[in-house]
Amino acid sequence: MQGLPYVLYNVGMSLDGKIALETYTPSFSSPQDWQEVHQLRASVDAIMVGIRTVLRDDPALTVRHVPPPLVPPAKVVVDSQARMPLGAKVLQGSAKCFVATTSSASLANIQKLQRASAQVIVCGESWVDLPRLLKILHSDWNIHKILLEGGGTLAYSMLCHRLVHEIRVAISPVIVGSRGGIALAEGKIVPSLEQAIQLQLIEHYPLGDVFILRYKVKYS
Ligand SMILES: NC(=O)c1ccc[n+]([C@@H]2O[C@H](COP(=O)([O-])OP(=O)(O)OC[C@H]3O[C@@H](n4cnc5c(N)ncnc54)[C@H](OP(=O)(O)O)[C@@H]3O)[C@@H](O)[C@H]2O)c1
Repeated sequence: MQGLPYVLYNVGMSLDGKIALETYTPSFSSPQDWQEVHQLRASVDAIMVGIRTVLRDDPALTVRHVPPPLVPPAKVVVDSQARMPLGAKVLQGSAKCFVATTSSASLANIQKLQRASAQVIVCGESWVDLPRLLKILHSDWNIHKILLEGGGTLAYSMLCHRLVHEIRVAISPVIVGSRGGIALAEGKIVPSLEQAIQLQLIEHYPLGDVFILRYKVKYS
């Protein structure tokens, strides 16, 4: 995967695999995990999320709780219609904010985001062309390491395009028992386990109440 950034997908989930419920997103983290996540944020060039995560959670995607790096990590929002609200927290602060969108987004939306100091990258027609986006981020913007912070739809797309190298999951000791909500990866059902995305466990440890699993993604 030469010419592409290294991507680590970090997520917190319930024991039954949900990262969000239908109506709200509880924290599946612990204070110790939160601190480690911020250390991870401080070590990457960019933090990436899907538009539905921005609309639901309005995350700031900044480095807190640990000493900040000299250059704050950029933020990347994958948003095919450029519908990100101008008041979104990702647009605040000194870090660069990229909005990856498509040629089907309205020019008015794109221009509004540019006026709000977003760096808009147009790639793709209906959904954002993720391999192309990552190539542009790497070659034009020197982004070599990305922390992907969800949600499940974007994460599954990234995995299917073989763009994720590593997964770090914090498992919270709760069972939400819901049929709905959002899982760690939201995509289509694979017909057999052989066709599922294969992982190799590389590390596991408790962090307060949560248990951390780190996997390398094995692409055949
Ligand atoms: N527990 C955790 O650690 C954690 C972390 C992050 C998020 N979350 C939760 O996850 C939920 C959001 O997850 P989600 O799965 O609904 O949405 P998401 O992954 O945040 O965003 C998906 C959206 O991104 C856009 N997109 C554009 N191009 C895409 C592409 N090539 N592949 C995939 N998506 C593309 C699409 O919307 P458009 O067509 O409009 O562009 C798509 O619907 C929220 O409830 C949030 O709270 C939890």
